[in-house]
Amino acid sequence: MTMPLLIAQLSDSHVGMALDVLEGRLDTLAALHRAVAHVACLDPLPDLVLFTGDLAERGHAAEYEAIAQALASLPMPVYAVPGNHDHPSVARDALPACMPVRADAPAQTCCYHVQHAGLQLIALDTVVPGRPHGALDSPQLDWLERTLARCHDQPVLLFMHHPPLPTGIEAMDACSLLEGGDRLAALVRGYGQVQGLLCGHLHRPVQMSFGGAPLHVAPSVAHQIALDLRPEAPLRARLEPPKISLHRWSAALGLCTHTSYVGDFGRGIPL
Ligand SMILES: [Fe+2]
Repeated sequence: MTMPLLIAQLSDSHVGMALDVLEGRLDTLAALHRAVAHVACLDPLPDLVLFTGDLAERGHAAEYEAIAQALASLPMPVYAVPGNHDHPSVARDALPACMPVRADAPAQTCCYHVQHAGLQLIALDTVVPGRPHGALDSPQLDWLERTLARCHDQPVLLFMHHPPLPTGIEAMDACSLLEGGDRLAALVRGYGQVQGLLCGHLHRPVQMSFGGAPLHVAPSVAHQIALDLRPEAPLRARLEPPKISLHRWSAALGLCTHTSYVGDFGRGIPL
């Protein structure tokens, strides 16, 4: 039996966020460094890292240079998709290995396809320039359909920033994936080999089902968004413990997702 693949999912580092946004209580670049160190110390070491968007706060080149330096200590491949706070082409220029977009990608997007140890990884760029919500247009979904067809019966993992379903956090639901979700669900259901969809954007760990496949939203490696399910609740950031998601995948068992807290919680008490 082959060893499961271990995938660390990091999300929403917002490097470059002004310190006064969080009352000076969180340096997001330092938080990213802590998350990277956390991944590097995991035993067993993850086979790869997927970064599900909002790497930077304003999409400036200097922010991506700092992110590249932070990620440089990781020995495994790192793949990323942009979020609504990112500037996709600036991110690509600074992190070319993390966004290996090829000539056949839909124009002006950071969609790409790589494979790792038998798992096909398809990155979807849901960014709508200048807007907080996400969308997948027809050229992107056509490309996804062609890419899925090329994969035949091989297992596929999709990753993108904006979740395609509402969660009850209304202020975030208003800026989730607002276009293309129905066809995406139909493609996931029709293809049948999609092992899961990994998203970010919500700054909370959330599990759902989408097109018959597991959908996981990773928490932020920096600040979290308050879990407030009241109608019309205002959006609030909270300094809950930063977290990463750790996915254990095998063809036989599919996706098993853990949440790993970033911080020093001791070595554990023998039980
Ligand atoms: Fe974010």
